[in-house]
Amino acid sequence: MGISIADLCVTYGGSTRVIDGLTLDIAPGSFFTLLGPSGCGKTTLLRTIAGFIPIASGSMSFSGKDVTKLAAHERNIGMVFQDYALFPNRTVFENVAYGLRARKMDGASIKRKVSQALERVGLEPFAGRLPAALSGGQRQRVALARAMVIQPQVLLMDEPLSNLDAKLRVQVRETIAELQREAGITTVFVTHDQEEALALSDQIAVMNKGRIEQLGTPRHIYREPATAYVADFIGAANLIPVHSPSVGAGTVEVSLDQHAIQAQAPAAIRGSAILVARPEDIGLDRAGAAGLPGRIRSQQYLGVKTTYRVEFGGGRAVNVDVHGDRRAEFDVGMDVSLAFDPVKTRVLAS
Ligand SMILES: Nc1ncnc2c1ncn2[C@@H]1O[C@H](COP(=O)(O)OP(=O)(O)OP(=O)(O)O)[C@@H](O)[C@H]1O
Ligand SMILES: [Mg+2]
Repeated sequence: MGISIADLCVTYGGSTRVIDGLTLDIAPGSFFTLLGPSGCGKTTLLRTIAGFIPIASGSMSFSGKDVTKLAAHERNIGMVFQDYALFPNRTVFENVAYGLRARKMDGASIKRKVSQALERVGLEPFAGRLPAALSGGQRQRVALARAMVIQPQVLLMDEPLSNLDAKLRVQVRETIAELQREAGITTVFVTHDQEEALALSDQIAVMNKGRIEQLGTPRHIYREPATAYVADFIGAANLIPVHSPSVGAGTVEVSLDQHAIQAQAPAAIRGSAILVARPEDIGLDRAGAAGLPGRIRSQQYLGVKTTYRVEFGGGRAVNVDVHGDRRAEFDVGMDVSLAFDPVKTRVLAS
């Protein structure tokens, strides 16, 4: 089921527009992620889709049907929250059965559906336990089973992985991805974890102050950030202010430390600009090679790669990633040369 949102404003009754004229189309069956920093309005938008928060203006439709005035329980939505929100004094079975009992389903069908749902998340043996006797990852799987068992038209998830440790996050993340693909259910997922967003999503909307700053596939958002805000939020980007005497769109040349750097400008820029280069898109060579001269100030060994902090003119610095055996060539204090990838380096308006 597709979701269309047009010109949505949400105010919580005050004068501040927490959601500020937001328009969005979510394709049926897609995994759609809302990504952005704390306070940008992710939870508000999700709860508005669920029907928990009244809107100030705008409209919303599911599969072309206007739901703007429908109450939450009329929207057939499954929700998973950051804090699990399980009933503490009901068993795992009864937690999952809750939505089916509310729909007055017969006992035998409930038993069958709950067992299937629990089996699907690998928790059938735990059906008789109380939530307190489960780990965080298991609790979130119960919450997932509870949301899915009612066969909702839309699945909404608000930072469902953020209370789990790193390894569990990846495991439950895979469960979520499998369930979503199998059920083909339209899913809106909220996170401020960019890796999670990149790994799971068909589409990502990067939000900024109640608006969508950029919308696209993970690859598109990562490789072609439209603004410095998006570049900074997704992945580790070096953002270097540069003075450009106005450049047109396309391949451009900007000056960094009296050194010409070639880069791509997605749009024309007048005045000050920002050079955006990811650590993996800057080449590192021994001093003397063509490129921008610098000196390694520090390094972080990260297993698969080492990130070098390289200082250049005027006390500025960039992070550069080097993989594999080439790392043996470099050390802190060494003079080096930086080569910016002319295709992947971008120049954006600041
Ligand atoms: N019930 C409320 N009444 C008034 N203002 C609220 C209410 N809930 C949230 N806000 C405000 O709305 C803005 C957006 O909040 P929201 O919870 O949607 O952010 P978020 O993007 O989910 O942040 P986080 O990543 O911290 O969860 C914030 O400025 C917040 O203070
Ligand atoms: Mg939130």
